[in-house]
Parts: sequence; C-alpha cells; structure tokens
Amino acid sequence: MPTILVIGASRGIGFEFVRQYVADGARVIATARTDAALEQLRAAGAEPLRVDVADPASISALAWQLDGEKIDVALYVAGAFPEGDARQPPTKDAFDQAMHTNVLGAMQAIPQVAPLVEAARGRFAFISSRMARIDGVESSRGWTYRVSKAALNMAVASAQLDYPDALLVALSPGWVRTAMGGDAAPLTAEQSVTAMRRTIAALTPSQRGTFVDYDGTPFGTW
Ligand SMILES: NC(=O)c1ccc[n+]([C@@H]2O[C@H](COP(=O)([O-])OP(=O)(O)OC[C@H]3O[C@@H](n4cnc5c(N)ncnc54)[C@H](OP(=O)(O)O)[C@@H]3O)[C@@H](O)[C@H]2O)c1
Repeated sequence: MPTILVIGASRGIGFEFVRQYVADGARVIATARTDAALEQLRAAGAEPLRVDVADPASISALAWQLDGEKIDVALYVAGAFPEGDARQPPTKDAFDQAMHTNVLGAMQAIPQVAPLVEAARGRFAFISSRMARIDGVESSRGWTYRVSKAALNMAVASAQLDYPDALLVALSPGWVRTAMGGDAAPLTAEQSVTAMRRTIAALTPSQRGTFVDYDGTPFGTW
C-alpha cells in the first residue's frame, strides 16, 4: 500500500488529493491547521497532522511526526494568494503571507520530507502556478503571488540536486474552481487532481526538478 503525504489538505485541491488517494486504497497522511479540518481529514480516512506551514516552529515538527516513514508521493499544496499588482508596493503582511506560505514552508519541508521520499524512491510534487512563468507573462495581477511561485520553482529545481533518489517537480494544477481559483475556473478540483495524479505517476527521470502542467505538458522554459 503506497504512503501519501499531503501538506495543506484542509480544502480545495489538497482535500481532493486526500479524497482520491484514500479512494484508491492508499495510506494518506494529511496536514491542516484547524481542529475542524483535522477532524474532516480523519473522517475522510486520512491520518491527520497539525501543521501551519507559515509557522516555522509548527512545520519543523514534521520531522519527528514522520519519523521512520517511507513516502511514495509527497505533495506540498498549501498556498496563499494576496491580491495586488505592480502599480502598488505589496504590504509587508501580504508579502510575508505569500513568501512564508508558498516558499519558506516548502523550503522547510524539503529537508525533512525529501529523505523520506528518497527512502521510497518516490515523488515530491510542489503545487506551483502557471502565473510563475517568466516567459510569456501576461500581466502583473497577483504580483506577489507570481514572485513567490517563481521562487518555489527555483527551490524545487535546486533541491532536486541534493535528493537524487527522489523525483521533485513543480506542478501547475491548471485554473481550478476553489476558493482561490473562483467560480469562473474551467477545471473542477476533481478534474485537476485526477490529471495531476496521472502526471505524477507517469513522471520520468528526465523531468527531475522541472516545471510541468497538470496534464503532463512540460513548460519547457520557466
Ligand atoms: N485554484 C487555482 O486555480 C490554482 C491555480 C494555480 C495554483 N494553485 C495552487 O494550488 C494550491 C491549492 O490551492 P486551492 O486552489 O486549493 O486553494 P484554497 O481552496 O484556497 O486552499 C488553500 C489551501 O492552502 C492552505 N494553507 C494556506 N495557508 C496555510 C498555512 N499557513 N498552513 C497550512 N496550510 C495553509 C489552506 O488551509 P486553511 O484552510 O487552513 O486556510 C488550504 O488548504 C495552492 O498552492 C495554490 O497556489 C491554485
């Protein structure tokens, strides 16, 4: 039975990963930061862990909470999207929220979780965004978010070199109907996650450290 870890699983894309992997018979360890979300994860068949990825003390507890595990698929899904464009400077709070949630949390998770993924010769996917692309950027909407997800992609590309027995990727989920994606998004969480699970399963060594779309299409350039 494969072991799956979903970091940031209270709702949206993260919860859908939990739902689908549990339905497939996997053992799923899933994190959230509120009592209600932890209870919802338990009810969904997951082993819940309390983690606030933006709180270094909280996320640094992952190492002992996961001591001895071998993780076949780890997913870093937690994300924050502060509004705003390049006509205004970001507030310190908005910058810190995006950078701590989308980048620092992932950089703190990597040294704790990647060795456990290596132990299973598994895969570690980080949910990035098409908005991180530097090539072909179409507007500055979500400026701080774009910067944070581009930084996440670099964290993934560079960390890959230190964990040769794990396969790390940055993965765009597409535009998905969640609290973050809004009602106009073309993909449901179920459709996005179904495609991403297929993509993760089909990753090849040549895709190590790269940035890939939900359906497996390589972005090619960053
Ligand atoms: N929806 C889209 O169209 C889209 C497009 C591109 C990329 N993404 C990325 O996909 C990922 C999931 O987003 P979503 O669409 O599912 O959005 P969502 O429904 O708004 O979910 C965001 C998730 O991140 C968690 N989170 C935020 N801050 C956290 C923290 N400090 N510690 C732990 N968890 C935290 C939330 O937990 P709480 O419930 O505790 O707040 C929630 O589970 C994000 O990384 C997002 O950037 C989404």
